[in-house]
Amino acid sequence: MTRLRSLFDIPDNVCYLNAAYMGPMPRSAVSAAQEAAQQKCHPWDITLIDFFQPTETIRQLVAPLFGVTYKDIAIVPSASYGLATAAQNMTLTAGQEIVILAEQFPSNVYVWRRLAERHKAKVRVVTRTADQSWTQAILAAIGPQTGIVACAQTHWVDGGYVDLEAVSDALAIHGGELVLDLSQSLGVQAIDLARVRPAFAVAVGYKWLIGPYTLAYLYARPDKQSGVPLEEGWINREGSRNFARLVDCRETFGEGAQRYDMGERSNMQLIPQALPGLSLLADLGPKQAADLISQWTDQIVDRAAGLGVIADAPHIRSRHYLGLTLPPSAPDDLLEKLKARQVHVSQRGTRLRVTPHIYTTQADIDRFIAALADSL
Ligand SMILES: Cc1ncc(COP(=O)(O)O)c(C=O)c1O
Repeated sequence: MTRLRSLFDIPDNVCYLNAAYMGPMPRSAVSAAQEAAQQKCHPWDITLIDFFQPTETIRQLVAPLFGVTYKDIAIVPSASYGLATAAQNMTLTAGQEIVILAEQFPSNVYVWRRLAERHKAKVRVVTRTADQSWTQAILAAIGPQTGIVACAQTHWVDGGYVDLEAVSDALAIHGGELVLDLSQSLGVQAIDLARVRPAFAVAVGYKWLIGPYTLAYLYARPDKQSGVPLEEGWINREGSRNFARLVDCRETFGEGAQRYDMGERSNMQLIPQALPGLSLLADLGPKQAADLISQWTDQIVDRAAGLGVIADAPHIRSRHYLGLTLPPSAPDDLLEKLKARQVHVSQRGTRLRVTPHIYTTQADIDRFIAALADSL
């Protein structure tokens, strides 16, 4: 634990329980960023390898977190970009439904409204009752009319867990497709996409994957790797390593999902900053990361309950993520009060979102509980 904390530049007097908002990069990312900036001042040092090798390393590191192979990964700038790529490559017929969850993250809502409009389809927003899990609510909504279910593995507001294997099996009966936003779980919650079989799945790199902003990773199922990318770039085409022959404008793409890579995917400033965090998480693996983090979330659930702050449905919550219900008496400025004591959490909807990570320590949890007790 102490070793993991020392890899991050988080002072002992800062209690940062807000990975779901923005993950801190490890210290080693700073030196990588400095070297990258230095290299840009000396462009004569930028070689062909810099255009191709780091992106391949990124794919290799990210793929096992999804439970797939590197060929299935595209490098994109954001969840919204990945989801727009997905939507562009889905087929729907008039009257079919796109199922999304209530209070889902907007990047995974707008795109489906637009697609539904285009195909005269409908967006169906699933809500859950207090005693229902998200999985149960989704399963109840799936039927012959379901074209797509677009959801997450962890609901970003309440931390609710979605059993994606069950959803996938139910969809398969009716020929529906699954599209996933794993931004709030990839790297710290195990997933086996080979088993879940979504058409596409995306995750941003700047939260749980402790990388820089504006890098995200898109999985495309092998049978979806012949679709239409959002951009018509050059580097993801076959033969692009031969800069002299780029004038030939070859139509064919390189292997796998890379046809969906964003333009300038080799971003020589951002990619080096993403690598240290991804290597760390790849070494730990999602199962061990979840074990480390859940000791803190479990402890918070127990201790916060004594203050009237409750995890309403702990049996279906994701292990790394808390969306707690506050007592009616909670002050409106609770977040500011906590922040004044260097305790950082967030509020989404009506819930207090508390998201520790692998750098969290016992002292952080004690500080959070003490600050919460004083501020309520
Ligand atoms: C569930 C989820 N998806 C996606 C994002 C970010 O989306 P985008 O990359 O489109 O900005 C967030 C940010 O909070 C999120 O919570």
